[in-house]
Amino acid sequence: MRLENKVVVVTGAGRGIGKGIAVRLAEEGANIVVADVNLEIATSAVDEIKELGRKALPVKTDVSKWDDAQNLIASTVREFGRIDVLVNNAGINRDAMLHKMASEQWDQVIAVNLTGTFNCMKAAATVMREQEYGRIVNISSAGWLGNIGQANYSASKAGVIGLTKTAARELAKKNITVNAICPGFIDTEMTRGVPDKVWEIMVSKIPMGKVGTPRDIGNMVAFLASDDASYVTAEVINVGGGMIL
Ligand SMILES: NC(=O)c1ccc[n+]([C@@H]2O[C@H](COP(=O)([O-])OP(=O)(O)OC[C@H]3O[C@@H](n4cnc5c(N)ncnc54)[C@H](O)[C@@H]3O)[C@@H](O)[C@H]2O)c1
Repeated sequence: MRLENKVVVVTGAGRGIGKGIAVRLAEEGANIVVADVNLEIATSAVDEIKELGRKALPVKTDVSKWDDAQNLIASTVREFGRIDVLVNNAGINRDAMLHKMASEQWDQVIAVNLTGTFNCMKAAATVMREQEYGRIVNISSAGWLGNIGQANYSASKAGVIGLTKTAARELAKKNITVNAICPGFIDTEMTRGVPDKVWEIMVSKIPMGKVGTPRDIGNMVAFLASDDASYVTAEVINVGGGMIL
């Protein structure tokens, strides 16, 4: 129970890695705000968290919109009085080779993955600065190092790392840590969309020989959000079974 009664916001927590993080942190005693653009899946994730005996609140949020991000943080403070932990997990991919990538594909991915992370961090930072306490964990990706067909995604995730390191420096004196996690290849609906052949190639590149689970990422978030990591900030931590060397 390392996070007993902490107030945690997880974006994109309706399914996949975000839901895995939300459930894992609830197991550590946290109350969870489940933010997702899809209210239906957010509500069913909330039901699951409540079964663990924790409080949970669904908030329909499109992180790419500043007004939604502001409303998310305001709703959290209205319901729980504070915000201890923000996990920026919401993300999308719209893959295409650079020479075929439509401007819309570029814009959508940057808007959700990078601007969305900025929006939620900006809104939460105001509250966390006043509290003089906070933990921010941003979900980047192994893809930040470059991946064929993912110019938009890779650039957005590299941007998240720059944002993480700058915010970490700005907020350090206010007792707020900011770290990023780079998941490797994790079994979610996002990756289940890849053809079987690509899946096999991806798994063959993982030294541990298996895909990761949302819970594997949740375990690292639980550590970074806890007091065990109170002197850890501005770090980028790979969780990929050795995939990122
Ligand atoms: N799955 C992987 O292998 C992998 C690897 C590295 C990084 N990641 C990152 O992890 C995060 C979660 O990925 P996933 O695999 O669980 O994906 P997913 O598609 O299964 O889930 C993404 C969630 O985000 C929500 N979402 C999408 N757009 C949103 C928006 N504008 N505002 C709020 N919520 C929104 C979706 O409704 C969904 O619930 C993403 O940032 C992704 O880039 C995933």
